[in-house]
Amino acid sequence: MVYPWEAPMNILGIETSCDETAASVVRDGRVLLSNVVASQVEMHARYGGVVPEVASRQHVLTMTPVVDQALEEAGLGLEELDGIAVTMGPGLAGALLVGVNMAKALGFARGLPFLGVNHLEGHIYATWLSHESPEESPGLPLLCLVASGGHTDLILMEEHGRYRLLGRTRDDAAGEAFDKAARVLGLGYPGGPAIQRAATGVKPKEPLPRAWMRDTLDFSFSGVKTALLRRAQDYGIYPRAGEGRGAGKGLEREKGDGDGEPIKRAGGRERWVRETAAAFQESLVEVMVVKALTAAEQTGARGIILGGGVAANSLLREKIVADSPLPVLIPPTSLCTDNAAMIAACAHFRFLKGERHGWDMDVYPSLQLG
Ligand code: KG4
Ligand code: ZN
Repeated sequence: MVYPWEAPMNILGIETSCDETAASVVRDGRVLLSNVVASQVEMHARYGGVVPEVASRQHVLTMTPVVDQALEEAGLGLEELDGIAVTMGPGLAGALLVGVNMAKALGFARGLPFLGVNHLEGHIYATWLSHESPEESPGLPLLCLVASGGHTDLILMEEHGRYRLLGRTRDDAAGEAFDKAARVLGLGYPGGPAIQRAATGVKPKEPLPRAWMRDTLDFSFSGVKTALLRRAQDYGIYPRAGEGRGAGKGLEREKGDGDGEPIKRAGGRERWVRETAAAFQESLVEVMVVKALTAAEQTGARGIILGGGVAANSLLREKIVADSPLPVLIPPTSLCTDNAAMIAACAHFRFLKGERHGWDMDVYPSLQLG
């Protein structure tokens, strides 16, 4: 294969870093020909979070049908692909291995160029699928806030493939904090969308603390999480029956407690949960927006990119657009949460530079960016 391609370049992307089995075909790093995501969320909801071994096993079952569907929806056969890209990290080792082995098998059998992609870089490149040439308008450097279940990173994108890590969380990731808070409030899993739903249309009564971590672009979300937990304990809604020591004393178990279903009971308690969810969401969003804007100003960024599952949050999306003096580029929510199109889009630009991996490429569960 000769680089760079002159003809259109069709890349098959594969993503299995956590609990979504995903495959997608992207043309020229920008045109979405197909985007298939098989979510395991219902399987993990009953445990209140992702169970790694369950995730790996489910990826094995779903991987082949998902790839078949992605090719079918793109209207392409394997022989019409120009390259295969797969998430190599960060993520769950066993889950990553399923995608990487599938990609290697297809690439080897078809003699296709093969590339491992950093999942966090993929989240940034989701923007290339929704906005035309961000590197030209608004132009580089771009400040990227990548907020997901495992990361809350502020990254400066200086060039395609060149990044500087400016700040990161010192404890919980934003998505992880949302998930834990939703569990405490009995709102089910995944927590981000559940908190957003509960908070919609209510005003936070009493603010929860913000950890500003002055003089650094790092984040910390464990303090607000603990403050929420204390409030829930004081109010008497946590722990519920079956959760934690001495759980459920004096509380009847109701549908929705710990089984992934939202609490439906009306009245004072529901209002309290919703107002507390709103306070929690507001606390996280405000810190993320202020830090991202500060980082953009300090680095002379030309614009801001939001990426990762937490970038699906509507308050975050609205507030950063409202507060930012710079253009803010945010992919549609379906491209913020995990998908394989972002992996294929990212790979396009790396393939163009002549990059590729050998068949001995490994998975990197703790991979960082920048
Ligand atoms: O990027 P992602 O799909 O997977 C990882 O790479 O981790 O992010 C998943 C995280 C979960 O913690 C989920 O609760 C959060 O993104 N999330 C949200 C929303 N949708 C998903 N957080 C806040 N608001 C949302 N609407
Ligand atoms: Zn992700």
